[in-house]
Amino acid sequence: MRVLQASSELHPFSKTGGLADMAGALAKYLAADGHEVTVITPLYGNMRDRFPEIDATDISFALPLGELVVTAKLWQLSPAKRLTIYFVDQPEFYQRAALYGDKAGDYTDNAERFVFFSKCVVELARHLPLPTEIIHAHDWQAGLVPLFVQHARQAGDWLKAPRTCLTIHNLAYQGVFPSWKFPLTNLPASYFTPAGVEFFGWMNCLKAGLVYADMLTTVSPRYAREITTEEFGCALDGVLRERQHDLTGVLNGVDYEEWNTTHNPFLPQPYSQESLEGKATAKAALQQEFGLPQSANVPLFGVVSRLADQKGVDILTGALEEMLGADIQFVLLGSGQAEFERAVRGLAVRHPTKASVKIGYDHALSHRIEAGVDFFLMPSHFEPCGLNQMYSLRYGSVPVVRATGGLDDSIVDVTEDVESANGIKFYEYSSRALAKAIRKAIVLFGAKELFERYRLNGMASDFSWKRTTTAYEEIYKRALAK
Ligand code: ADP
Ligand code: GLC
Repeated sequence: MRVLQASSELHPFSKTGGLADMAGALAKYLAADGHEVTVITPLYGNMRDRFPEIDATDISFALPLGELVVTAKLWQLSPAKRLTIYFVDQPEFYQRAALYGDKAGDYTDNAERFVFFSKCVVELARHLPLPTEIIHAHDWQAGLVPLFVQHARQAGDWLKAPRTCLTIHNLAYQGVFPSWKFPLTNLPASYFTPAGVEFFGWMNCLKAGLVYADMLTTVSPRYAREITTEEFGCALDGVLRERQHDLTGVLNGVDYEEWNTTHNPFLPQPYSQESLEGKATAKAALQQEFGLPQSANVPLFGVVSRLADQKGVDILTGALEEMLGADIQFVLLGSGQAEFERAVRGLAVRHPTKASVKIGYDHALSHRIEAGVDFFLMPSHFEPCGLNQMYSLRYGSVPVVRATGGLDDSIVDVTEDVESANGIKFYEYSSRALAKAIRKAIVLFGAKELFERYRLNGMASDFSWKRTTTAYEEIYKRALAK
């Protein structure tokens, strides 16, 4: 199949979260499976300095954006056979320090930036020498793509218009803008109704995708069920219930070429199920790096996370305030909402020999934390998929997770299966429940043989992309059959 992936972030070029990992790996493994894959993504900040191998093309677009005409150049890179990435170069929109916003909040022209990006996606699909069969759009930033395609198909001006698939990575981010931004789409006002992109008087980019894409997916089976309920539906559950037959939950894969412990430039020493010595080395090195006492016998808990409401930082700090009284250590790498950054810093100030925190974004350190900790905490309020728990399993770090979304789908608690248990789950969203789960982890850590079994079960678990790409291939076939 000829597939065009549209994503506002793409590992290793740009990333704020798991979307980048997922979009990068999906493209790579679809191409490896024999598909012709094109990816389109914005050319941000200093990308060309960091990746000098990105080449100029002679493709440029001049597209209407409301009353303006905005131009962009495309750059390209072909990192593998059958895989081409196009980067949209529109310096006014994308040459910024961050992807979506700064400390002052979201960039105020995000509607312009991503309506334009979505238009570039469609323009590229029309421009490619061989017709694109499927456009796979990711999240709200590309949410308008299915609508643009549908409009062109209905207007009869795109013979063989591609079929579309939209993946929801996180329903909480919808790209909601005032109604007066809708003319940026240059579409007839007839689309701006409750049956279309209107959302209580606002324009909603994700909703456009939910209504007009041929197929919808999200990133775990459980989250696919959750988002059709009022509790997790973020006011779009009604729309999703209507599209339930076209909505599939597909658990993301892990790119084990990147996330492994045997060939990993970020780790001090390789290790594997057969030889865990390097894991002990990683722990000692991590304790040193975070300025904590180097002790193999103290259970070390870790977090790598965006510090956002979704991630359960409030119950995390509550639980740790209580649990840091016990003989444990805690390290965290993260950044995000100011109040959460303050709260986790506070923990480190009050418990200097037990908790240590780094605020910021550091890819190499995220690998070292995955490897160095004994337990990885993910107390998310909701979690569409979550990747770190799957990385933790492979790194021999036992995940402690709240049973929601992809966390529930990927981790096995002892109450579910004694033999294959690889993590600890808790259910109630409260500090008390998390503290109890941490207490269970401490007990497990003391039961050396059992702990070893959990660890080895985790390292043996397999979330490789094969299963995930096969599932997407089936979904593309269903889209083509429409
Ligand atoms: P989300 O996409 O909701 O943030 P995921 O678990 O899917 O959650 O993916 C998060 C990804 O971002 C992981 O690869 C994780 O290692 C990475 N990440 C998050 N915060 C940081 C950080 N501060 N530094 C480095 N990597 C981070
Ligand atoms: C989103 C979700 C996360 C998921 C990631 C990749 O950022 O919050 O749970 O793993 O997308 O699909």
